[in-house]
Amino acid sequence: MGIAVTDIGIVGLGVISRQYLDTLLPASSVRIAAVADLDASRAEAAAAAIPGCRALTTDELIADPGIRTVLNLTIPAAHAEVALAAIAHGKDVYGEKPLAATLADAVRVVDAAAAAGVRVGGAPDTVLGTGVQTARAAIDGGRIGRPVSASAMWVSAGHEAWHPQPDFYYREGGGPLLDMGPYYVTSLVQLLGPVTAVSGAASRSRDERVIGSGPREGEKVPVEVDTHLTGILHHESGAISTVTMSFDGVRTTAAPIEVHGVEGSLVVPDPNRFDGDVQLHPRGGSWETLEPAAGYADSGRGIGLIDFAAGDARASGAMALHVLEIMTALAASAASGVRESLTSTVERPSLVPLTPATTWRAL
Ligand SMILES: NC(=O)c1ccc[n+]([C@@H]2O[C@H](COP(=O)([O-])OP(=O)(O)OC[C@H]3O[C@@H](n4cnc5c(N)ncnc54)[C@H](O)[C@@H]3O)[C@@H](O)[C@H]2O)c1
Repeated sequence: MGIAVTDIGIVGLGVISRQYLDTLLPASSVRIAAVADLDASRAEAAAAAIPGCRALTTDELIADPGIRTVLNLTIPAAHAEVALAAIAHGKDVYGEKPLAATLADAVRVVDAAAAAGVRVGGAPDTVLGTGVQTARAAIDGGRIGRPVSASAMWVSAGHEAWHPQPDFYYREGGGPLLDMGPYYVTSLVQLLGPVTAVSGAASRSRDERVIGSGPREGEKVPVEVDTHLTGILHHESGAISTVTMSFDGVRTTAAPIEVHGVEGSLVVPDPNRFDGDVQLHPRGGSWETLEPAAGYADSGRGIGLIDFAAGDARASGAMALHVLEIMTALAASAASGVRESLTSTVERPSLVPLTPATTWRAL
């Protein structure tokens, strides 16, 4: 079987690129033809470890006629610029989250791609793993009856406890919502469908944070964004989700995501991972752990690009745009105190059939 191999060019060879290479290098549907980074030494080091891969400048990579898809693993502030340049050269683009640093830039990317007749996709692709997909199969299969509500909860003390350069988490574009929200909000849209309106409330516990490790340990970082956000998502289906994302606690024992229906309740595992146990409590029964029933098994970051190259593009630009609008609308509602209606929507992508690694690597 198999389809034509897609030649990929990666822009941005930082921390997260290693996880992508682990997933993509053994996959036969994609070939990493070139890499580029502002720091040329990073591109050269990566190219040296990949057979047949060239180290180029970003401009050369984007203009290279042999490259079909640009994988954009740069920092959020560069996402739109790199994506727009690739689209202008007629290439498909797939990138890390968020789609762009602002909603306006994200709309520009999606509109430019539509006008150019190319495709956009992007993270998070964790939601295509067996954790979220098995939960979705249970919901779609009627195991909880009509879904009524969901909750999503992520609480930490803040990344400055472990990250040696945590400044960006406390600046515009940072905060717990934009950092962790994509995993949770994308899962809620996968499970319960698109959102039509949101209400948010937010607070900020401190004006400064203290770096907890590394050469700057003890140095203070100014806090310019809200660090605790809670919100309500009104899904088109009528279901209602509550979301809490916080740097202002310490730990939580709350399930990452729970979904409740009139016939059952479901616990969904950590959406920042690809796998994990899904638990179901049917009405009149007791908690049971579901066998994986859907999703790419044993997958990692980059599976969304393999899905994209195969033509499905479940981790789509339309999904990434809708999720970014939900998050920016939550923050806007928190600031104004007014419920915000959304302008974007997305169709839920098709369920991923249970697919072992031997199969998706050979797609
Ligand atoms: N680090 C993580 O654990 C993690 C997890 C999930 C998602 N992400 C996402 O992955 C993306 C990258 O994160 P990271 O941790 O790898 O960052 P990083 O800073 O380690 O790497 C980013 C790389 O991009 C390069 N770069 C920046 N702007 C560029 C440009 N205009 N042209 C070419 N190269 C450019 C930098 O030189 C750097 O090598 C971010 O969107 C982040 O949200 C990171």
